[in-house]
Amino acid sequence: MAGRKISPNLALDQLVAQRIAAGESIVHLGFGESRLPVFAPLRRALTEGADRNAYGPVVGDPDTRDAVAGYFSRRRLPTEADQVIIAPGSKPLLMALQLVVGGDTLVAAPSWVTYAPQARLAGKTVLGVPIPESCGGVPDPAALRETVRAARVLGHDPRILVLTSPDNPTGTHAPDELVRELCAIAEEEDLLIVSDEIYRDILHTPGTDLLSPAEIAPRRTVVLTGLSKNLALGGWRIGAARFPTGGWGERIRADVASVASEIWSTLAGPMQSVARYAFAEPPEIRERLTADAALHGAVAGAVHRIMVDAGATCRPPTGAFYVYPDFAPLREPLAEQGITDGASLQHHLLEELGVAVLSGHHFGDRPEALRFRAATSMLYGDTPEQQRQTQTAADPLAVPHVADALVRIEQALAKLPR
Ligand SMILES: Cc1ncc(COP(=O)(O)O)c(C=O)c1O
Repeated sequence: MAGRKISPNLALDQLVAQRIAAGESIVHLGFGESRLPVFAPLRRALTEGADRNAYGPVVGDPDTRDAVAGYFSRRRLPTEADQVIIAPGSKPLLMALQLVVGGDTLVAAPSWVTYAPQARLAGKTVLGVPIPESCGGVPDPAALRETVRAARVLGHDPRILVLTSPDNPTGTHAPDELVRELCAIAEEEDLLIVSDEIYRDILHTPGTDLLSPAEIAPRRTVVLTGLSKNLALGGWRIGAARFPTGGWGERIRADVASVASEIWSTLAGPMQSVARYAFAEPPEIRERLTADAALHGAVAGAVHRIMVDAGATCRPPTGAFYVYPDFAPLREPLAEQGITDGASLQHHLLEELGVAVLSGHHFGDRPEALRFRAATSMLYGDTPEQQRQTQTAADPLAVPHVADALVRIEQALAKLPR
């Protein structure tokens, strides 16, 4: 294992946390976490589950899986508990999928920092496909066809297509026509679709619905979800996968269960209590999700405006809590100061301007692109009190610590050469 690094997202967060603790003033937009306090009913569910100290079934207890099946069924994906595996986060489930499905892996470029390293850990070749103009998280269809064709000529064997909607890092979701087109390609090319829908409940505009690839290509789509993002429970580690019915899906599910049994055994008992409660979506959880989605939209929208005013082009965010600006319009003046790629732009923003972001190359984007991800949910506050104040404010942008941070970002970016 010598020479392996920890994931850049986590590494940057640790570095920035150390520097802030040492007294530096940094606006931290570098970590993909929903900085909101634990919702009180979730704490109660956790406490009620504290006595669950037995291991229990590897795939999760039947009642919890039933709740997850209900969650999917309410989203036009009819699901039986037997199609579900719950786990300590969706990350290990994604890794298990890479381990049990043969062939190579197609990912959008850019896409979440972990997909490519996981596929490589599983011994696969990673085939990055550029995203379309309209949104991130999914490959451009023409580029996907071309990549599959070219990869086969070179002797690779693309068999897994990872899609994320809404996505990290661009904070956008894929329109229905695009999902249909990608599903058609997956059918033609016999690809398994891994549909990461962990941000599904964070669509900024109320009433927006999302078309899951599992609705179009049910036999070849595994759907992932979790509570890390929509309920801000990243540290509690609760994720779930929904496997297709039919021989292929059942085989993959059995193989993932086998990996689970050898690596994590089961989701911690108290967390199963939390999962059972949250995935059942009682009214207070639904209200929380709706209110938080509006908060994420307001703050991401504000940061998007700042980026555009600073000279970047940037897809307007529609989901999750990210923006992904492109400073290509400032390439010449930036180059005069030695800023020629994503890494040097990230470095300049942190070291000279006190703003932490994560360069696009960590997401598989072209290294020379002047793009980065800003995680806007980091602005909600450093303490649970501040976060609660942001969460309950009629206008989160007017909350003093949020307003101050937005001004600091604006002033920092105004110092970029132009
Ligand atoms: C697209 C995406 N998928 C999955 C995850 C991991 O989630 P979990 O906490 O369920 O492992 C993240 C976290 O950043 C993510 O951005």
